[in-house]
Parts: sequence; structure tokens; C-alpha cells
Amino acid sequence: MPNDRRSFLKLTGLAGIGVGTGSILKRFSGNRENDDTGLLLSPYERSKSPEFNMCGYTAPKLETVRTGFIGLGQRGPAHLKNMSKLENVEINALCDLRPDKVQSAQKLLEGSTHHPTLYTGQTDAWKKLCERPDIDLVFIATPWDLHTPMALYAMKHGKHVCIEVPAAVTVDECWQLVETSEQTRKYCMMMENCCYDFFELLTLNMARQGFFGEIIHCEGSYIHNILEEIFSKHAYWDMWRLRQNAHRDGNLYPTHGLGPLCQIMNINRGEKMDHLISMSGNDFMMGAKAKALAGSDDFFKPFADKHYRGNMNTTCIRTHTGRTLMIQHDVTSPNIYSRIHKISGTKGSALKYPLPGRISISSDDEWLPEEKIESLKQKYQPDIVNKVGELAKQVGGHGGMDFLMDWRTIDCLRNGLPLDEDVYDAALWSVISPLSEWSVANKSKAINIPDFTRGAWSTNEPVDLTISHKNLTAVRQIQG
Ligand SMILES: NC(=O)c1ccc[n+]([C@@H]2O[C@H](COP(=O)([O-])OP(=O)(O)OC[C@H]3O[C@@H](n4cnc5c(N)ncnc54)[C@H](O)[C@@H]3O)[C@@H](O)[C@H]2O)c1
Repeated sequence: MPNDRRSFLKLTGLAGIGVGTGSILKRFSGNRENDDTGLLLSPYERSKSPEFNMCGYTAPKLETVRTGFIGLGQRGPAHLKNMSKLENVEINALCDLRPDKVQSAQKLLEGSTHHPTLYTGQTDAWKKLCERPDIDLVFIATPWDLHTPMALYAMKHGKHVCIEVPAAVTVDECWQLVETSEQTRKYCMMMENCCYDFFELLTLNMARQGFFGEIIHCEGSYIHNILEEIFSKHAYWDMWRLRQNAHRDGNLYPTHGLGPLCQIMNINRGEKMDHLISMSGNDFMMGAKAKALAGSDDFFKPFADKHYRGNMNTTCIRTHTGRTLMIQHDVTSPNIYSRIHKISGTKGSALKYPLPGRISISSDDEWLPEEKIESLKQKYQPDIVNKVGELAKQVGGHGGMDFLMDWRTIDCLRNGLPLDEDVYDAALWSVISPLSEWSVANKSKAINIPDFTRGAWSTNEPVDLTISHKNLTAVRQIQG
């Protein structure tokens, strides 16, 4: 169990449910047989039918998408730059708590047609941005615990929202996003950019066309050594990311690995997750780093006695139809960057990271040669890559995937198409964090995963990979 049990309960949103399996069983074992965790029976399992199914929903077309941005630290400006390159996008408002961040974001727009109003200096200045009538879409790139409150407020004020990853940090927040999106019929997209990386898109289309046969098992991860950034006074605002790592133990950042795999497995769209188990080892890196820094800098003294998250977390998920997923998270050990993308099917497999993407077919015990992979790319590359891939690579941003995602989101809004990642995806991919925390705190016991679609998963259609409309969103210029 974590040292600070009360903080843990508050952070995971499991307060009032009881973390110990026994207490959960006692309180919520009423109406489900063979349930050995009870979480699905918690107040957070809203058993009623969806208010409205947002999967496949198309909001009224917006000829021009009027945007506002909250959170302009490291990540927010990346979306801002992409948006400034698109035709039929207006940037009407910028908000960050810190005035210098708003001003440097404004500088990025110098010489453009955008003249946004600035909001800064107060912790709730963002509310004024959400209340403006001349904004259709709010981008949120703030610390994790602000994502859901900001998104709820924006949706309630008639805005679509694009939230950075993860969309929520507690089970309850995940449900609030789902219910509010359904009630307001506003899109709530979690901007999982890894779904738009090139090998991930290629393998998604290949899986869709049956290349891998039945999908048996997938693996994903976020293994990225950002220890120095986490402890830097100049990276994350108010050391928010260090604080998250000091109070929670589980997979805090599951969505990069999970998103592309869920699309490949058609999770929420013909398939659903059933339960997970999660294990963390000890912390070998963060506590030692905090103590070392505290020795020469009083600023770090409050961080020196914290119980830090186990460096490596491994979470395993079983789906309704008996397939499995393994997701890992380690952002503090000296590893080679790896966002594992492994697909194992009845006819073939694929693997990317830490080496470049490779594909194999069943009769071979070897990877296909480079020329063969090139010809598969020609055959299976989805429309978005054919139409915007080269442009995206020129613009850059994680190799172009950020631009593909931002372009596609605006293009869907303008053409009355459903967004690729809906609120059920945002909730499900994010809920893995608090559920993994529960499992880690309970000796890796299994915990059921809520069905945010409340049954609609069985008839929801898979993400559409085709782009057949003519009114493609144009790009203004590509400089810097
Ligand atoms: N998808 C990706 O590849 C990717 C990459 C990096 C970060 N992210 C995500 O982006 C988000 C932001 O991360 P970051 O690295 O930019 O963090 P950051 O700390 O650099 O930026 C967060 C910004 O939020 C501002 N902020 C804090 N409280 C605020 C308030 N009340 N009102 C308005 N602004 C407020 C801070 O001043 C800061 O500028 C996180 O969710 C992170 O997980 C995603």
C-alpha cells in the first residue's frame, strides 16, 4: 500500500469505495455474480443506458473552426503552431496562468491573421475563455488534474474539447467526461497523437484488411527516460509531473501505447476490455535523485522523503473475447526510447520499438525484408497518409503525427465527420491509470474495467480509415 493512503484514494477517485477487496465486496456485491473485485458495481459504474451514443456522432459542420487554447507550456504551443498553418481555423483566445507563456505563444502568431485575446494571471482565467461565444473548440494542455475540470466547463459552455493525454486521472472523472459529452453532444477528444504515427496507421489498416488474421495479443508502452525533466525546475510548471510520480503508483501514462492498439483491436467498437492486473517494482531512481538534489538545494527538501512510484509498471488486460494486451510504463530509468507497438495475430505479427517497424508472416520465423515492407506500405497505407503524410513530415512534430492528428481533427469538424477518438476512448484509455493503481496497491489483484459505452461497444462501428470527401482542409504555408 502507498504510505499516503488518503491521498491515494483521493487521486484515484476510489475514495468511498474501499480499496481493500473485502470492503468493496461487502458494499457492492449485490447484483453481479462471480465478481471478485466489485469495482464495476461501484457508484462509478453507471448502469443506465447512455444518454446518447457519441460513438460515430457527427456534430453540425463548422465551415471555420474557431479555437481557444488553455495551457501554453511545452505542449500547448505545438498544437497552436499546427492550427496556425491550417486554413479555415481562427485562433481567438490564448490562456495560461503565466503571462510570459501567453506572450510567447502570441509571438508565434505574429504576422498572421490571428489576433487572439489573452487570458492570464489567475487560476480561473480559463473560464472566461470557455464562456466566449466565438469559440467552437478548446484545446487543453495543462497539468493532468486540470484536464477534466476544464473540459467539463468548456463542454457545458457549448464547446468541443481536445484534451491532452491522459484525459482524466480518476475513475469518477472518466465518467464525468462521458456523461457530459453525451448530455451536451460536444466532442471530447483526447489527443492521442500516437494513433497517427505512420507505422501505427499502416498496421491499423493492415489489421483491418485481415493481414494479421485474428488479433491474439498486443503490447504497447511508454518507456522514455525523462528523469532530468521531471526534476527540472524549468520544465513542468510547479513540478506537477514530479508531484504525480510522488503520490501514485501504477501506469500513469498508458495512452500512448494503448491508443493505437485499441484501434487495432476495435475496442469500444466490436470488442471491449474485461479486466486488468498490474504490477510495479520498486523505485530505484526517483527517491535517490530527490535525496541527492535536496543535499545541495533546499528547494528539493520537500521531495526527499516521498514514496515514489515503482519505476517500471506492467499492466495486463484481458478482453471480452479472450485477447490480451500488455502495457508498460517507465519514464525514469536509463532506457532507449520505446513505445512498443507489437501485434500478434493468427497469420502474422508486427513490432516497432526500440528498433524500426518490422512485419512477419506466419510461415516465416523472420522479419520480412525491407523491400517487402515497402511494397506493403504502398498497398496498405491509409488515405490520410496518402493525402497529408508528406506535408505532415515537413511540418514535423513527433515526426509528423501531431500534424496529422490536428489536421484530421479540424477536417472532421469542417466536414461533419465523427472524430477518430471519441469520449469513450478518452475515458477508457485514461481509466487504466487509476485501475492499475488499485491493482498495484492490492498485490496485483484483478480489477474489472468499466464499459463506458454501456453496451454500445457491440454495435459501434470501427474508426473509418477512408477519406472520400473533396473539401480537404487546406494548409496555409509551411515555415518553421
Ligand atoms: N501527446 C504528447 O506527445 C504530449 C507531449 C508532452 C506533453 N503532453 C501532455 O500535455 C500536457 C501539458 O504538458 P506540458 O509538458 O506542456 O506541461 P507544462 O507544465 O510545460 O505546461 C502546462 C501549462 O499549464 C499552465 N497552467 C497551470 N495551471 C493553469 C491554470 N489554472 N490555468 C491556465 N494555465 C495553467 C502552466 O502555466 C503551464 O504553462 C500534459 O497533459 C502532458 O501529459 C503530451
